[in-house]
Amino acid sequence: MVDAARHPKITVKTYTNVERVEGYVGNFKVQLREKARYVRADRCNGCGECAKACPVEVPNYFEMNLAPRKAAYVPMSQSVPLLYTIDMDACIHCYKCVDACGALDAIDFSQEDKIEWEDVGSVVVATGFNHFDPSVIPEYGYSQYPNVITAMEMERLNNSAGPTTGNLIRPSDGLNPKRVAIINCVGSRDKRFNPWCSNFCCMYAIKNAILLKQANPDIDLSIYYIDIRTPSKGYEEFYDRAREMGIHFIQGRPSLISEDPLTRNLYIHSEDQALGKVIEKEYDMVMLNQAAVPQPDVDTVSSILNISQSPGGWFMEYHPKLRPVDSPTDGIFLAGACQGQKDIPASVSSGLACASRAGRILHSDEWQIEPIIAQVWEDRCVSAEGKQCGVCAKACPYGAITVEKGTAALITTAKCHGCGGCVAECPHNAITQMHYTDAQILAQIRALLAEKPEEKIFAFRCQWCSYGGADLAGTSHFDYSSNERGIRVMCSARMDSDFIYEAFRLGAGAVMYSGCHPQDCHYITGQRVGAVRADRLLKTLEKLGMSDGRFRIEWISAAEGDKYSRVINEMQQTINDIGMQQILAENAAMRPELEKRSRRMYEVPMVPEASTYSDKMVIAMSVKEVKDGK
Ligand code: FES
Repeated sequence: MVDAARHPKITVKTYTNVERVEGYVGNFKVQLREKARYVRADRCNGCGECAKACPVEVPNYFEMNLAPRKAAYVPMSQSVPLLYTIDMDACIHCYKCVDACGALDAIDFSQEDKIEWEDVGSVVVATGFNHFDPSVIPEYGYSQYPNVITAMEMERLNNSAGPTTGNLIRPSDGLNPKRVAIINCVGSRDKRFNPWCSNFCCMYAIKNAILLKQANPDIDLSIYYIDIRTPSKGYEEFYDRAREMGIHFIQGRPSLISEDPLTRNLYIHSEDQALGKVIEKEYDMVMLNQAAVPQPDVDTVSSILNISQSPGGWFMEYHPKLRPVDSPTDGIFLAGACQGQKDIPASVSSGLACASRAGRILHSDEWQIEPIIAQVWEDRCVSAEGKQCGVCAKACPYGAITVEKGTAALITTAKCHGCGGCVAECPHNAITQMHYTDAQILAQIRALLAEKPEEKIFAFRCQWCSYGGADLAGTSHFDYSSNERGIRVMCSARMDSDFIYEAFRLGAGAVMYSGCHPQDCHYITGQRVGAVRADRLLKTLEKLGMSDGRFRIEWISAAEGDKYSRVINEMQQTINDIGMQQILAENAAMRPELEKRSRRMYEVPMVPEASTYSDKMVIAMSVKEVKDGK
């Protein structure tokens, strides 16, 4: 950190929040709020005289509230930069700090928060993780029994720079404990709280146990665990070392911790899988090794940066294997445990990867984007006529569309990721998507339903998941009906209602609307946009008299080839059960209404103007063009 602060090209801004991020890759604008410290950075030399003079004491968060700090404070002695701050919530305005500061005159109670904008080429998110609060598990008694502590509290107690200078004591009576237990997986691998394994906690428990044993050789140490996971280089050897030092490993998740109110000793009730029986053991102190969980403000950061989250709340990467540190928004990268549970080597690796990815942008004069972007037909956009619309802007998960009355919707090319949601949502058919135009998709539907359409199961699949699922079903040789016909679009958001109407208008036996599971969509909210539309379609088709099961909405991942084949076979069974006569009769009855509903399709030129884009398979944009918003 000191090196970073001294680097001529790095500016470290502490006590500063990011409040807004605008722009796009190579051209972001970031709004920062530098909070008032009430201490002038250009005068404070970090001597600490203000803290010595301050009479107010409050719990020290850095010491896990096991020690006090003053209202004039630095979070920790190695803080970078070493600048004191006045905690205004605790300050009693006695001005003793002002007197103590003397000639330096660094205390300034008139300071206010400073708002500023910075131009940046890329953004790296490294907001880390938080610890699970074990007080929500009543059976472990945290915050009820003083000698049940968390791993971070143990960390501070056992640290020579901590509040007890490394002397391990029981919070209840200040005595040195002789018997200590560590319980793993507190709040993790527990369906009540978090289903995930926190990845590094086994090693963290072993590290703490070894440090405790080294500092207190006579201590009796036990680690309660479900499984010990030591998958990386040197980890298993570290585990062996702990066992050789005499640390006991007990396989079993404790069901209860109880306390003797007189001695304040603790009793752990657990199973011991090695002995195959229930045990109860007495300890002086218990450490809970909590789960890693996302930071509490993860939703706010997610909406400021426009990046999506996986189900547990972690930030979601663009692709877990191929682009593991990229967020779904170009130019924003994810370092360390904000993206998921990572230990230190994995966090450092992802940080280095982010630096390399970000550096690539900063050193490029040009930036290539996929050529499947959306384009506006200006003469069709009603905004150009001064009417209120903006449906496309609402559908865009990347904020790539600007709509102002009097001009046609404007798509910032560099921000568009090509999900096609705006194209399908536009009620005036004023947007198209390069290489996935309505005309091209309709041509595919018509070709695939040219013969015996009533026997066909027509599948709309998104590029990233359900198409992968279909592919896997094929390569795995899973049996499914040969009546299946399908096409690929980038996202379920691109599946226009008119495509489904057209498939049924042409007489399809059944239609499947498929895409990723909600958390897997590659376009942030694309699947949600698609899901809302699909539900609407289902209701409409039911009202038109279509039998149950002829239109199915299915979310299928690229790993679910078996599900893809099962669903297709079920749809075939549905067709068989309904019978051809009935299907033909339903299609005939629905056709006039379907033609009416999909009329806007026929207003579009069926052959796209080749000159618009056919020669631009790859677009190279100079940074200047990006800056100009072209
Ligand atoms: Fe599959 Fe959006 S990418 S649903």
